[in-house]
Amino acid sequence: MPLTPRSIPAVAAAATAGALLVRHELKARQAAERIAAASLESLLKAIDANDPDTGAHVRRVAAYALVLADAAALADHQKRTVERVALFHDIGKIHEALFDIIHDARALTPAERRAIATHPQRGAEVLAPLTGFYPDLPEGVLSHHERWDGTGYPRQLKGARIPLAARVVSIADTFDAITHSRRYRDGRSATVAADMILEGRGTQFDPDLVDLFVFPPVFARVLATSREVSHWREPIHTRRTGHDEEQVPDITFRWRPERTAAHGRPASDRPRRTAR
Ligand SMILES: [Fe+2]
Repeated sequence: MPLTPRSIPAVAAAATAGALLVRHELKARQAAERIAAASLESLLKAIDANDPDTGAHVRRVAAYALVLADAAALADHQKRTVERVALFHDIGKIHEALFDIIHDARALTPAERRAIATHPQRGAEVLAPLTGFYPDLPEGVLSHHERWDGTGYPRQLKGARIPLAARVVSIADTFDAITHSRRYRDGRSATVAADMILEGRGTQFDPDLVDLFVFPPVFARVLATSREVSHWREPIHTRRTGHDEEQVPDITFRWRPERTAAHGRPASDRPRRTAR
């Protein structure tokens, strides 16, 4: 339709209505993303509340996994998936059926070991309602105990059929399991962990990711991260402060400890008033 002086107001009105519609849809999408991010925070706090040790473990694993994801030059959206899979890989362990087993310091019986092996499936089920927002999250969590040679669980996926985020998290999870002290044993050195991960190259772990993980400049970053996260002793208590809806929406998913400006310590290390 040719533009004439008489049609200009109608075209301008249509353009304004279109712009308003786009703005409205953008705001609605940002609100939905904010709700999804808040849901993840709530889930993480539920992990902290159920088992602070697991809450601290998954944060350390996320920190190591992000170092490896960065070294692998993954795209930003892939790094976000790695971060989420790392943070929620063990959420299936909060299931009531596993609670007593996990909190018992005794060696596991075969039946208990089989019960624990259900946690990837249980975790994927917990996260399934968030699939619309995070399509790769339940699948990544489901796959974090698969092995490169196809002998893992629950589906015996092999090689590149295992989601990339799960392969990254598997290495980070193993590194933390070896180096961090548990109730029943002391943690071993990072060098021992690197050797054990190398032993699993091509059998348990993606060989290319192992090569990257132990590559000296990358491993130096892992060690630096390890020193940093060793201060993350307590669950993280963050508070969302007042939002201005007209400003950039607050859709950040907070999971790292806050640091004090004065001392550079995590907020969790600061004295807290406790209700009694
Ligand atoms: Fe696990």
